[in-house]
Amino acid sequence: MQAVAIAHPNVALIKYWGKRAIVGNLPATGSLSLVLGGLSTETLVRFEAGRQGDRVLLDGREDAETSARVTACLDLLRREAGVSDGAVVESRNDFPTGAGLASSASGFAALLVAAAGALGLRLPAARLAEIARTGSGSAARSLAGGIVLLKNQAATTVCTQLATPADWPLEIVVAVTATGQKAISSRQGMTLSEQTSPYYPAWVGSHAADLEAGIAAVRNRDFSALAELSEHNCLKMHAVMLSTRPPLIYWTPATLACLLRVRELRAGGVPVFFTIDAGPQLKAVCLPAAAGDVAAALGAIDGVRQILRSPLGAGARLRAAGD
Ligand code: DP6
Repeated sequence: MQAVAIAHPNVALIKYWGKRAIVGNLPATGSLSLVLGGLSTETLVRFEAGRQGDRVLLDGREDAETSARVTACLDLLRREAGVSDGAVVESRNDFPTGAGLASSASGFAALLVAAAGALGLRLPAARLAEIARTGSGSAARSLAGGIVLLKNQAATTVCTQLATPADWPLEIVVAVTATGQKAISSRQGMTLSEQTSPYYPAWVGSHAADLEAGIAAVRNRDFSALAELSEHNCLKMHAVMLSTRPPLIYWTPATLACLLRVRELRAGGVPVFFTIDAGPQLKAVCLPAAAGDVAAALGAIDGVRQILRSPLGAGARLRAAGD
């Protein structure tokens, strides 16, 4: 009744910001993302016979909102397995939690794989992704590895791996500019955007074209096209955030300095582009040969506290010997 799983966060290039239904946590749009193999979440789940309720420790601490979301996911798995025992969940990240590094994505992906493993459940990948999505919309993308497409369908979402890490070995350089927990979570932020940003309808309305172009750029391994499109989609999402009431300003001065430096590098011929989620970290996506120079350039910027480097990574899995 116990298992340990490992999952990696992912960063969306064509992003998810907004929901079409709260029930089932259905996103308003599809999304396309990269799994960051260099950053990991490790989660242990142990179901205890006769235990009432769950105990959830995230980096050693309990948090009521996270615990409620975890219990909701575990309830769906308990129903599938026909058990009612409570669980102890211990999850650790080797990177800053809740600061725009998609810890909820890797967290819920690892939770689902560990819990299903502990219960001996062999669910179809699509069902597991559906349950992961209820925990966090981006979590379904961390179940698969490499470059992942999440598409909206009538009453659900479907995840597909567009490329394995070996198919297109991109590297991601993360410039960490602040490590505190963000004031407004993605979940709260996207609801506020939907309710108050005059740009929200345009964001949703123009999204399908971005997603189709993103899929084509990945299929053609067209780095320049992916660079232009990803930066556009990222800035469009931040325009929605900035025009939300109250405004969602996730950037620090160093985030903007990194953004401008990445654009300068690309103008000088370096294969790199940026993306930024609901947090202050800038992720620079590059061809591997450029990663060293990009890391050095971003590391030299005032206010950059840490540089993390990551290749693309595998999907969530049970921990094997040697992992
Ligand atoms: C900006 O997946 O954390 O990172 O489904 O409400 O848990 P919930 O939101 P979450 O939002 C991710 C938002 C984003 C963009 C993205 O990853 O696509």
